Amino acid sequence: MLESIHKPVLVALSGNEPLAQKISERLGIPLAKQNLDRFADGEIRFNLDDSVRGANVYIIQSTSAEGNNSVNDAWMELYISIDALRRASAHSINIIMPYYGYARQDRKARSREAITSRMVADLLERVGADRLVALDLHATQIQGFFDIPVDHLIGAPILADYLICNGYVDDNTVVASPDHGGVKRARELTQFLGLEESFVVLDKRRPTDQKNTVEVMNLIGNVEGKTVIMVDDIIDTGNTIAQGAKLLKKKGATKVIAAATHALLNGNAVQNLQDSDFDHVVVTDSIVIPESKKFPKLEIVSTDDLFAKAIEAIQDYKSVSPLFQNKYHRG
Ligand code: R5P
Repeated sequence: MLESIHKPVLVALSGNEPLAQKISERLGIPLAKQNLDRFADGEIRFNLDDSVRGANVYIIQSTSAEGNNSVNDAWMELYISIDALRRASAHSINIIMPYYGYARQDRKARSREAITSRMVADLLERVGADRLVALDLHATQIQGFFDIPVDHLIGAPILADYLICNGYVDDNTVVASPDHGGVKRARELTQFLGLEESFVVLDKRRPTDQKNTVEVMNLIGNVEGKTVIMVDDIIDTGNTIAQGAKLLKKKGATKVIAAATHALLNGNAVQNLQDSDFDHVVVTDSIVIPESKKFPKLEIVSTDDLFAKAIEAIQDYKSVSPLFQNKYHRG
């Protein structure tokens, strides 16, 4: 393992230091010593203590507001560190991005609007990233915004493993997508849960001018007397899934569980979800969740093993596909 002539160097930026630390422990590779500070006006300054000449560098950064001052700061920190490492003659610069900020702006939804997830991708390549390892991109076609390799990992295997190991899944369980856009993701989860035929969709409508307001209108499928696992990529304000849970309970579901990869938990999300019809809210640690945002119904599954295995595979020139093709068990 990790026998490449290009030694692996792990760099943790501000976005998700606790996860970076766990990945480092799993791999047995210490995080590189760095200096990350700011000028008085807020400009970011970065450098590493030790040489990275000829090394395969793995920069771990979630481009979320949590852990950073803002989403924009997270991206800027990343660009600056890539530039520094490229100028320091790293052999390759691999970006381990548990959460890809701006992913939701992946198309022109309105006139005179930017495609921001493409724009941040262009900049990432321009400054010198050689590879991106991402998790549950909001839209899989974001991979096509890059000309460098993108390893797109999915959260379904680790969420499924957690749900099964905690006894949340039986023959009476169905998986729900909170909207039409999430159907593929929900279908993936059914496969990992062995529930291919147990699937329902919520028909969500969102007023065009209100970004975080949703109105769940209809349910396609039957949930009478069922345990329902509602899966989404992102929980931001929690409105989408909380309204979905309410509808599912109204339609006769006996128990409703949320399973989501990225827990942004903004606005009233914490109160919203604790007071919701969910029995459990299961998320990953792709984004740092501070103590102030933890609530009794929240359960957090770590992605540390997934990313550690991905780094091992890249370092050893092996395929990462076993991480999303097989049944996954956290090592
Ligand atoms: C939207 O398309 C995403 O997949 C999520 O459903 C959305 O971002 C969740 O937002 P919120 O929690 O604010 O309803």
